[in-house]
Amino acid sequence: QQQVITDKFGRVLQDLRISVTDRCNFRCRYCMPREIFGKDFAFLPKDHLLSFEEIERLASAFLQLGVKKIRLTGGEPLLRKDIVTLVGKLAKLEGLEDIGLTTNGVLLGKMAAKLKEAGLKRVNISLDAIDDKTFMAINDSHVPTNTVIKSIQQAKEAGLIVKVNMVVKKGMNDHEVLPMAKFFKELGVTLRFIEFMDVGQTNGWDFQHVVTKKELYEMISKEHDLEPVEPAYFGEVAKRYRYKGTDTEVGFITSVSESFCSSCTRARVAADGHFYTCLFAGTGFNLKDIMRAGISDEELKNTIVSRWEKREDRYSDERTEETAKNRKKIEMSYIGG
Ligand code: GTP
Ligand code: 5AD
Ligand code: SF4
Ligand code: SF4
Repeated sequence: QQQVITDKFGRVLQDLRISVTDRCNFRCRYCMPREIFGKDFAFLPKDHLLSFEEIERLASAFLQLGVKKIRLTGGEPLLRKDIVTLVGKLAKLEGLEDIGLTTNGVLLGKMAAKLKEAGLKRVNISLDAIDDKTFMAINDSHVPTNTVIKSIQQAKEAGLIVKVNMVVKKGMNDHEVLPMAKFFKELGVTLRFIEFMDVGQTNGWDFQHVVTKKELYEMISKEHDLEPVEPAYFGEVAKRYRYKGTDTEVGFITSVSESFCSSCTRARVAADGHFYTCLFAGTGFNLKDIMRAGISDEELKNTIVSRWEKREDRYSDERTEETAKNRKKIEMSYIGG
């Protein structure tokens, strides 16, 4: 029996994003710049990571509190040892309707079939350019686009529902918007353009770097006719369109130009078990320590409920130059987007 819990603005707890590692095999310039995330960077030590048993326990508590959808994130979630086993455990939990994973795709190709077999339904794969030179300048890890494109194809062949995410940053990859649209329209894969956001403290964000949905839409509709598509579920993050005369969709994630906090039903748990009620939160609540101290399932659920009921986050509604620069925020690679 699932409970329904709501926050201060009446937003129901419905989705859970679990980060399974803060490490990544990419060093995207806008997310984990090498100068900061280099050899000396202190990633979480192993004993600070939630174990699979702890993740499973948390997931079932959240499911009893109304969560229907779980998404695994990172860093790069496929770097977590035995991730397929974890997916298998989570996919069997009662009350779960949807389970997805967000990945950079590098390791996905050879794992796709096993993930699908374990119960994974969907993968969102990041790819910020179709041109090798641009893509390699962004990932800063010598990975060509073909590696990711092959994984996209293998994920489709394995029967996973696939979407591609492209973060657009002015001067970095805005020249790749049309080539990406054309490529994925022809491949019949949903591409979502993401407005560059001021996550964390290290990504050098500025309003000037944002290419808004309006600009993206205008660029694309000069070449392709688009028609709107209804959201798949309440609070869906992307605004969806279809290329007229096809089944292929394109989406826009408009955190900056049209914030969607009023329908935000998402809870986040970081790899070290901190619970956050917003992507832009400054502080979280440590669920790992209370679990390791021997809290009961009932107390664990009560703790989550009391945090959710106090929730007032609506960062993207409030964003200004000032908050973007000065507010203390957690890093994307730690919280998983
Ligand atoms: P679907 O289940 O396929 O709709 O996934 P999703 O779009 O919710 O998740 P994904 O991991 O693919 O994220 C795509 C982009 O949306 C990333 O840049 C996320 O950081 C961003 N995003 C997801 N949820 C939120 C949110 O609650 N607030 C903000 N500001 N951005 C979000
Ligand atoms: N703004 C918007 N999206 C971002 N991502 C990482 N950093 C940012 C940012 N600053 C994207 C990744 C991935 C998703 C989880 O979040 O590229 O597609
Ligand atoms: Fe790039 Fe995603 Fe890794 Fe960040 S977490 S460096 S966006 S692949
Ligand atoms: Fe939700 Fe925070 Fe994103 Fe708003 S900014 S949609 S409250 S996670």
